[in-house]
Amino acid sequence: MTALATAQAAYDELAALGLKLNLQRGQPSDADFDLSDGLLTAVTRGQTTMDGIDLRNYPGGVAGLPSARALFGRYLGLEAANTVVWNNSSLELQALVLGFALLHGLRGSSGGWVHDRPKLVVTTPGYDRHFLLLTTLGFELVTVDMQPDGPDVAAIEAAAADPSVKGVLFVPTYSNPGGETISAAKAARLARLDSAASDFTIFADDAYRAHHLGEPVATVNFVELCASAGHADRAFVFGSTSKITFASGGLGFVGTSLDNVAWLTKLLGAQSIGPNKIEQARHVRFIESYPDGLDGLMRAHAALIAPKFAAVDEVLTAELGTDGAYATWTTPRGGYFSSLFTTAPVAARVVDLANAAGVSLTPAGATYPGGADPDNRNIRLAPTRPPVGEVRTAMEVAAACIRLATEEYRAAR
Ligand SMILES: Cc1ncc(COP(=O)(O)O)c(C=O)c1O
Repeated sequence: MTALATAQAAYDELAALGLKLNLQRGQPSDADFDLSDGLLTAVTRGQTTMDGIDLRNYPGGVAGLPSARALFGRYLGLEAANTVVWNNSSLELQALVLGFALLHGLRGSSGGWVHDRPKLVVTTPGYDRHFLLLTTLGFELVTVDMQPDGPDVAAIEAAAADPSVKGVLFVPTYSNPGGETISAAKAARLARLDSAASDFTIFADDAYRAHHLGEPVATVNFVELCASAGHADRAFVFGSTSKITFASGGLGFVGTSLDNVAWLTKLLGAQSIGPNKIEQARHVRFIESYPDGLDGLMRAHAALIAPKFAAVDEVLTAELGTDGAYATWTTPRGGYFSSLFTTAPVAARVVDLANAAGVSLTPAGATYPGGADPDNRNIRLAPTRPPVGEVRTAMEVAAACIRLATEEYRAAR
């Protein structure tokens, strides 16, 4: 039998099983959510005061409850005063900051960025919703590679020679999709980078800062690094509890300089009397009462999630080997995703084959702006939601699809 016929027979056998598995979106599992069910009763009748503030009424401040600012400030390695806790989505908070920058400019800007035909640097492969958000707001995207130790900083330095390049948006810890973490050296280089734009800004979406799968990596503190480098207002660092408590029922927050906090709260205060204090209070009560607090909760998540990442690596290694003949993939130390590169330019065909066999993978190209992967090689794997047995089966199917698509490609050449 030819290699193609063998691959086809293996695929047909799996496709005949009538599977219906989804490895597409990075969502927590029900078992992850169950860990946080205590949230649902963390604020009850008669417990509606925190920090001396009546949670049921308007007053309380636009920057968030003091206890919530302190808790999530610690999460970011910052003081409460440097932290604004908002509502349920860090992506929305990113959109608000970027939208305000477009309308009014940031500190150091001569006016709203919208007048400058602004560009922002993003890393690829990257997070599809970053690309969608930025292009929807009207930014032109400049792409640089995500490398094992973080973004290609030399490429960012080169891009920043263009005054319309206003900054960079990326995931500093356990990136989406590859799980890469920026090194201390690269972070320091970004903090001191010479840019043509006086208001060049680091937008760090630190969505997975505490999402270790084993021994934690060293995280960076862009707010402190930028202050030490003489660019006190250069960094906004975002985080959320979407993958800690409830996805869409959590809290988004941002850490930045004191002057940026004043700038942001003035603008937020024009559109809202303040964020949802009930949600903030129940997060504070729930997380602070969890055994060993946030660290304990994150260890409980890791116990659920790490075996799924191990299953991805085990099955791919067993089915495809480690010589890169068919594919290579990342083995993240944290976060929610692994990034796979097919050796042949067949990612779209792999995803189509998997869909036809009942396994839904992230659409090929989703990790690049416009949904177009110039090399047709990258596939994001999102193993967190299904049970580990389903992850295993889904990866067997994915491996069979990679073999078949690769052999088809080779046979056609
Ligand atoms: C890098 C990154 N940022 C932000 C989000 C969404 O965060 P939120 O639910 O706080 O808007 C995700 C979700 O997958 C993500 O991967």
